[in-house]
Amino acid sequence: MSGCPVTNGFGNHDGSAPTPLSESVTGGGMLYGKYLQLEKIVSAQRLLSDEAGRLVHDEHLFIVTHQAYELWFKQIIFELDSIRALFNNEDLAETQTLELLKRLNRIVLILKLLVDQVMILETMTPLDFMDFRSFLSPASGFQSLQFRLIENKLGIKPGNRVKYNKSYSSVFGDDPEALASLIRSESEPTLAELVEKWLARTPGLEKEGFDFWGKFQQVVDDMLQEQKEKADAYKESTAKTFALNNYAKRKAIYDSIFDLSVHDALIKRGERRFSHKALQGSIMITFYRDEPRFSQPHQLLMLLMDIDSLITKWRYNHVMMVQRMIGSQNMGTGGSSGYQYLRATLGDQYKVFLDLFNLSTFLIPRDKIPPLTPAMKTKLRGRRGVEEETENGN
Ligand code: HEM
Repeated sequence: MSGCPVTNGFGNHDGSAPTPLSESVTGGGMLYGKYLQLEKIVSAQRLLSDEAGRLVHDEHLFIVTHQAYELWFKQIIFELDSIRALFNNEDLAETQTLELLKRLNRIVLILKLLVDQVMILETMTPLDFMDFRSFLSPASGFQSLQFRLIENKLGIKPGNRVKYNKSYSSVFGDDPEALASLIRSESEPTLAELVEKWLARTPGLEKEGFDFWGKFQQVVDDMLQEQKEKADAYKESTAKTFALNNYAKRKAIYDSIFDLSVHDALIKRGERRFSHKALQGSIMITFYRDEPRFSQPHQLLMLLMDIDSLITKWRYNHVMMVQRMIGSQNMGTGGSSGYQYLRATLGDQYKVFLDLFNLSTFLIPRDKIPPLTPAMKTKLRGRRGVEEETENGN
């Protein structure tokens, strides 16, 4: 291997100086297969159909595909844990945002690969699958510990899960270690919770400072007032009814963010996840994303949505494959209703960053966005940015 990591020594997970490798490792060097422990990986394909004396060719692909998924799940968890550790620091330095973006983007690219990988398994026909399906029962992807860990670490709440005929954790009942890691993942801060706290700290939300929320509410009030006056000015007609209805709808939408009791009711129903302050932060970052200090946070929000979208796309591709392989009436080997169960997991309750998707509902035209005060400009652009702007006559 050129630039072989074994002889160079690894950098540590947190980016600190590499830990020296023990002599036994560096002394004799290490060959590719040994370093990667390939003997374990490539000998881990046990074809049950072969053992039963009637080899089914496609079982090999079935096993390798699942194993490849699990390896990538492992990498996703590795990145996710490091991202959560970085976020878990109240004083998250802005220099670390770049590292966060890099790792989130890596997860996004892996997920893209995982979405596409479904196609390869779809080269197997349902008849081929039927030839060995009975051997693998009761094994099922439902028992994928790493998949559940990813869901939990991202922030899917147990209460939001589709009801299944067994509890999710009971699947791991005879594996205490797996069960413990699952329970731990439900109690540790999730990525969604950490992002929520980070958003609530967005500079510019302070009432005694820029007071973004107060300014935004004023703009919206004025816009709604204008819309109402226009609607009132119509003579009695269908057009008037339409305009008044439109106004009422728009007002209800904005009430959902400005009226705390409505916001809280939405949270209770699970239709909103972010705290009120986090919601304010996400809207502010969306409006001022062109400001240097908000550009990376905005990219970060985009990547979080990509993660949600791609997992939903994976769920969709998987459920289509399941329908193709076993139809919509057969139960899964894991004991669920199969296709029907999986289809139910495509809903919004499985989107961790649902609020980010819904932000577009609250957008206002660019020219109505409250202008930044000089103090806020300095905060978001730095003194040099403001000076350059003055020099350019902007
Ligand atoms: C022929 C191909 C496949 C079929 C027919 C199939 C079928 C199913 C069924 C019916 C379920 C529902 C649980 C149950 O009752 O068993 C399920 C769940 C699941 N499968 Fe697959 N699967 C296939 C391939 C894969 C692959 C390649 C992966 C990759 C890791 C995978 C991962 C999962 C996961 C993670 C779940 C749990 C989903 C959830 O609970 O939201 N499956 N599968």
